[in-house]
Amino acid sequence: MSYDLVVIGTGPGGYVCAIRAAQLGLRTAVAEKRATHGGTCLNVGCIPSKALLHASEAFEEANKHFADLGIDVGTPKLDLKKMMAFKDEGVAGNTKGVEFLLKKNKVETFHGTGRIAGAGRVEVVSEDGGNQMLETKSIVIATGSDVTRLPGVTIDEKVVVSSTGALELDRVPKKLLVIGAGVIGLELGSVWRRLGAEVTVVEYLDRVLPGMDGEVGKQFQRILTKQGIAFKLSTKVTGVEVGKKGGASVTVEPAAGGGAAETLQADVVLVAIGRVPYTESLGLDTVGVQRDDKGRILTDAHYATNVTGIYAIGDVIAGPMLAHKAEDEGVAIAEMLAGQSGHVNYGVIPNVVYTFPEVASVGKTEEELKKDGIAYNAGKFPFTANGRAKANGTTDGFVKVLADAQTDRVLGVHIVGADAGNLIAEVAVAMEFGASSEDIARTCHAHPTLTEAVKEAALAVNKRAIHV
Ligand code: FAD
Ligand code: NAI
Repeated sequence: MSYDLVVIGTGPGGYVCAIRAAQLGLRTAVAEKRATHGGTCLNVGCIPSKALLHASEAFEEANKHFADLGIDVGTPKLDLKKMMAFKDEGVAGNTKGVEFLLKKNKVETFHGTGRIAGAGRVEVVSEDGGNQMLETKSIVIATGSDVTRLPGVTIDEKVVVSSTGALELDRVPKKLLVIGAGVIGLELGSVWRRLGAEVTVVEYLDRVLPGMDGEVGKQFQRILTKQGIAFKLSTKVTGVEVGKKGGASVTVEPAAGGGAAETLQADVVLVAIGRVPYTESLGLDTVGVQRDDKGRILTDAHYATNVTGIYAIGDVIAGPMLAHKAEDEGVAIAEMLAGQSGHVNYGVIPNVVYTFPEVASVGKTEEELKKDGIAYNAGKFPFTANGRAKANGTTDGFVKVLADAQTDRVLGVHIVGADAGNLIAEVAVAMEFGASSEDIARTCHAHPTLTEAVKEAALAVNKRAIHV
């Protein structure tokens, strides 16, 4: 069997790469070791977490806010089994969708673990031990990432869980302890808090969502605290002991050392301290593909590894571990292999946390601009002053636009607020076109919409917001 391209892994990076390559006329095959396509994102990541965030948000609305809207539904009852079935349906719909798209584009699919047997050769070993050798001009590695483990802590996916276990708990834990105040910790912490768990988040650093704009992090933590999530920042976990009758004792102490240790009890402990590139069983050492000190496959600007004909994209290489980043790299490498000029603009990759309210950002944070010595003007607009937010009763949060002090070019936008994940899209397009804050400010935005807060924040850059 001979191909132009064999892609290993059919997550958002791999399957999108394969489809684009096939569209461009390359004879393409994929190898996937899971039973279903779609990778971490569709099976145990983006899609199931968003389904549970959606369902738990509806539960909380019915529980706490419907009465304010004049809707009396009594006290809603949770049917967790049904909620999980709703989530599973969403996953199945999406993974089947990818299977259909691969078939429609005439991408040949092989189920099994792909191993690079040498330049131009991929061996696929299926679960029943059968194997096939695929000959190919090019290989794209899109094997994604795996959970980062905490040394000395065993993840049993029952009491001590990773995100995967936290997406399929069979009861609401009375106490959930989350290790890591990153995206997973705060999204899944929100899900289980809404469903009735007492949630405590232990974070090593002195802030939540490291990497995001500092002001956004502070405001977001205040909002989550108001919702009932407890935070222990600047704290490290030194041990997790699972009890004989279930539950766990978690020992923590100040991250800086020196302070007293404390033991916290929890029914479930979620370890959410990041993800690591996944390259197991790929045979990289045999063919000599180089990795960096974090285990990420080293590539040049064209996704080429040090071995001719072998490329890598997505979570397994450097950059933000996001599905849309992996997808865009998939398109770019497919286009390059077909002789076109694929390109990803790493300066404009939106980042969204799908809690309520949502957090969304694109471009540089204030901290990054200060560090780089770039002079900027900031325009900020609170949702308390936005007509639609007031009418909806969703006034938490703000939009902040950061623009170059000399050229007015938009350098970064940071939003905490309802629907922030959708609001960030117009700014990403604007930034892609090199917009100034005045360009956004002079664009007519429909009334009454939350998007007017983006326009007002852009106006505020030059101190001419109307509604504050
Ligand atoms: P993956 O999606 O990890 O896919 C890799 C695939 O390769 C897997 O299917 C794996 O089985 C397969 N594979 C590995 N090794 C082999 C082999 N040797 N042979 C054959 N197949 C192999 N990102 C967002 O942008 N938005 C979100 O809302 C979001 N939510 C998330 C929620 C959670 C709980 C988690 C864990 C992640 C979330 N992410 C989100 C991150 C997102 O899932 C990843 O960035 C994305 O899946 C990376 O895509 P990928 O194609 O590089 O790898
Ligand atoms: P993360 O990198 O977002 O956050 C991990 C947090 O754990 C950090 O705040 C870090 O300081 C903290 N931490 C690390 N070691 C610790 C320790 N020993 N004790 C206490 N805290 C510790 O990683 P997370 O949340 O696991 O997510 C992994 C990746 O998945 C993210 O990088 C993100 O790109 C992706 N993801 C994206 C989502 C989205 O786009 N909405 C949703 C979920 C995941």
